[in-house]
Amino acid sequence: MDLRPAPLDLAAAEPHLPAPLRPIARRLDLRLARRDGMESDDVHYLSVGASALNVIRVALSLAGLPEPGRVLDFGSGAGRVTRWLRAAYPDAVLACCDLRPQDVAFCRDLLGVEAWASSADIEAIAFRGPHDLIWMGSVLTHLDEDGTRRLVDRAMAALNPGGLLVASTSGRAARAVQDHDGSYLEGDGWPSVKRGYDEGGYGYVDYPAGEGFAPGYGISLSSPAWLTRLATASPGRRLVMLAEGVWDGNGDVVALQVAPEFARDRDVPGPEAREAARLRDRVAGLEGSTSWRVTAPMRRIAAAIKGPDRG
Ligand SMILES: C[S@@+](CC[C@H](N)C(=O)[O-])C[C@H]1O[C@@H](n2cnc3c(N)ncnc32)[C@H](O)[C@@H]1O
Repeated sequence: MDLRPAPLDLAAAEPHLPAPLRPIARRLDLRLARRDGMESDDVHYLSVGASALNVIRVALSLAGLPEPGRVLDFGSGAGRVTRWLRAAYPDAVLACCDLRPQDVAFCRDLLGVEAWASSADIEAIAFRGPHDLIWMGSVLTHLDEDGTRRLVDRAMAALNPGGLLVASTSGRAARAVQDHDGSYLEGDGWPSVKRGYDEGGYGYVDYPAGEGFAPGYGISLSSPAWLTRLATASPGRRLVMLAEGVWDGNGDVVALQVAPEFARDRDVPGPEAREAARLRDRVAGLEGSTSWRVTAPMRRIAAAIKGPDRG
């Protein structure tokens, strides 16, 4: 492992962490990749991970879910948040994937998680589900509108019934940061991002050429109204949480649950009925399987999917 010589300084960060997370912090692996692309000062690095775990725990609680059994950190980087998931859910099967092979190799070696390299082609990404929880931190914040829709669809399809996608987005809080100090984007693309946001709820521009990013990777802004439409446009999706500026003080977080009882009318033919039928089949296949933790909320969901006349 290519490690930074000094481990993360937990003693310096601990007073800044939420009190309920301090016992979990003491179980953290504090070794850091020498080339962690997310490295900042140690207090900030550890606080960002803690903040992610905080919103994940709130979203799981709102969704009525117990500790997840299978968790994917999608776009994990070199484990800024993954290490908190490992410490919080020691019994979970934890996985991570990212475009950067050196980062996923580091997470595998450091944390013993399943890890694989992802793809910039959204349709080609391997999710290796079904998972109970997918965390997607600062990934949608770099995609255009179509990319965000497609990646969310793919992630939702990789969850168990009752499973939860918790994803960060950039909205009004991030917009204020960029307006104030320009820390997210250099160059002259920012006005067009804001125009897209103001006109349709979603703005995006590629990073300027020459900064080392491929076309199709840049900075996005999405409004709460746009995210609500995303959540409610597909059947069987429950909008569990939509909160502004809750991750690291500037990231918005949206949590979507696979909830077939939110398919509007399961008996009307059409895409919604087909989606509900697909979920019913998945539940039937999962029952009795040891990989699916059948919990009280999930049993309720399963009962709702089957309906009274479906045995
Ligand atoms: C801003 S970084 C955030 C890393 C990590 N989530 C964190 O908060 O520390 C965004 C990450 O998303 C990854 N990423 C972008 N597109 C991806 C894709 N299609 N599949 C997997 N990872 C992706 C990038 O490689 C990068 O590591």
